[in-house]
Amino acid sequence: MVLASPGRGFVDGQLAPRGIQTMRPEVREHMDVTRERAWKTLTAYTTNEALLRHGLAVEAAVGAYAPKFDGDEVFWRAAALLHDFDYEIHPTLDEHPQNGAPILREEGYPEELIETVLSHADHLELPRDTPLKRALFGCDELSGFILACGLVRPEGIETLTPKSVRKKLKQPSFAAGVNRDDVINGAEGLGVELNEHIEFVIGALRPIAGELGLPTPAL
Ligand SMILES: [Fe+2]
Ligand SMILES: [Fe+2]
Repeated sequence: MVLASPGRGFVDGQLAPRGIQTMRPEVREHMDVTRERAWKTLTAYTTNEALLRHGLAVEAAVGAYAPKFDGDEVFWRAAALLHDFDYEIHPTLDEHPQNGAPILREEGYPEELIETVLSHADHLELPRDTPLKRALFGCDELSGFILACGLVRPEGIETLTPKSVRKKLKQPSFAAGVNRDDVINGAEGLGVELNEHIEFVIGALRPIAGELGLPTPAL
């Protein structure tokens, strides 16, 4: 996947006046996080196609929110891509995602990313005290739900509207695994009105609909 942003280190490097050390400590901490590295880690632990697609969907949604919250898009995308990286090896909540954290630490990911990954899990009761943590939580369940909506429509998500998503949210039997409260609380936590949030996430997923296994009607 082509990234919209070359990454914070590169951008800062471009902007830094010659000979002046302008790198802030938190910038240095992010230096090793790249999309390629996150993808490598994800695919080292995940072979299930649905899980990979879930990672890609959440990455696209969280990545689209990054500029809106003045976030580092590369870092946001990597955290989103990795949020369920250990789900295949730790498929229960007594292991996921907490037992994945030491693996990420061992691989050298910064604590900020690890904390973000951990914060998506309600049972760990960690504060969602950064825009990235709120974006990740807000996009996690909703991305899955939008994928489910797209899979049962001949046109995928191309013509999917917030109204139709909300209608499906009210049908408990549809995509029953998706926690409706998480979808609503996620939008609230992010401070975005639910319709607007749904519309935004659909828009973020449309360009990668094919990669997500959704029908892509010929236009
Ligand atoms: Fe998870
Ligand atoms: Fe997830």
